[in-house]
Amino acid sequence: MPDSLTLTPIGFIRTGKQVKFQARHQPAEGEEERNVLELSPGCNYEQALQDLAGFDRVWLLWWFHRNKTWRPLVMPPRGPAKRRGVFATRSPHRPNPLGMTPVRLIGVEKRRLILGPCDLVEGTPVFDVKPYVAAYDCFPEAKAGWIGEVDAELSKPARFVVHLSALADIQARWLWEHWEVDFLPRLIELLSRDPSLHRTRRITRRDDRLRLIGCGAWRAVFSVDSERVDVLAIEPGFPMRFLTRPGYEDVPDREAQMAFLERWPEVVA
Ligand SMILES: C[S@@+](CC[C@H](N)C(=O)[O-])C[C@H]1O[C@@H](n2cnc3c(N)ncnc32)[C@H](O)[C@@H]1O
Repeated sequence: MPDSLTLTPIGFIRTGKQVKFQARHQPAEGEEERNVLELSPGCNYEQALQDLAGFDRVWLLWWFHRNKTWRPLVMPPRGPAKRRGVFATRSPHRPNPLGMTPVRLIGVEKRRLILGPCDLVEGTPVFDVKPYVAAYDCFPEAKAGWIGEVDAELSKPARFVVHLSALADIQARWLWEHWEVDFLPRLIELLSRDPSLHRTRRITRRDDRLRLIGCGAWRAVFSVDSERVDVLAIEPGFPMRFLTRPGYEDVPDREAQMAFLERWPEVVA
């Protein structure tokens, strides 16, 4: 066997998710999403797609092309801040950065596959498509190691009670009313479960008293006292000097972030 093998993508996916945090850790099945996998011309892929339309789901095998390194131990976003062996996770930081995602197949149009929710960013190279066959691919009783333990913990009632300050409440409402940005349910879910520092969950220390959590393109400043979490203010994820810089046009919620900084120019917590 050769030491290395060469693969050629069969195509590239268009998902509109420009930055990694826009893609969920696994597909958000509950959401309406339409993604397009465009297979390369001149390879007879139209023929290769014959008979696929009858399947509800397909596996996509793809490359985490935005990753340059791998790590033997990684800290998954779910569960306590604990490092796990990369092969026991679905982390992108793998020696061969191959991703696999079972996605809903909405339609086949010549060389294009119309797909439902997925966790791939815009332009991800795809190496293969296979039909998802529940009889082969689904083992609902199979043990899921540390993920099963984390899920059991998540099924218990949340430990922390989250309060919004008057300012955070006004800011959240303003974002929703003016820009239809609503990350509050996700923020409250995360903080009510576990507000402790966690790099992959994007919870960092702001100073001796305050912490920051990243939620999509936004951040929230909060404090923790016993089992109470106080969200004091919301902030855009990027400062104005980045938002106005050429090359940053695709930052998610860019206009909303700029308008927010005009409305609340000072750091308020
Ligand atoms: C946790 S991985 C799981 C991927 C796949 N479902 C799996 O289990 O192999 C999903 C994350 O990969 C990241 N991602 C998506 N496309 C990527 C790409 N082309 N390069 C690097 N990271 C990517 C996104 O941040 C997304 O949240």
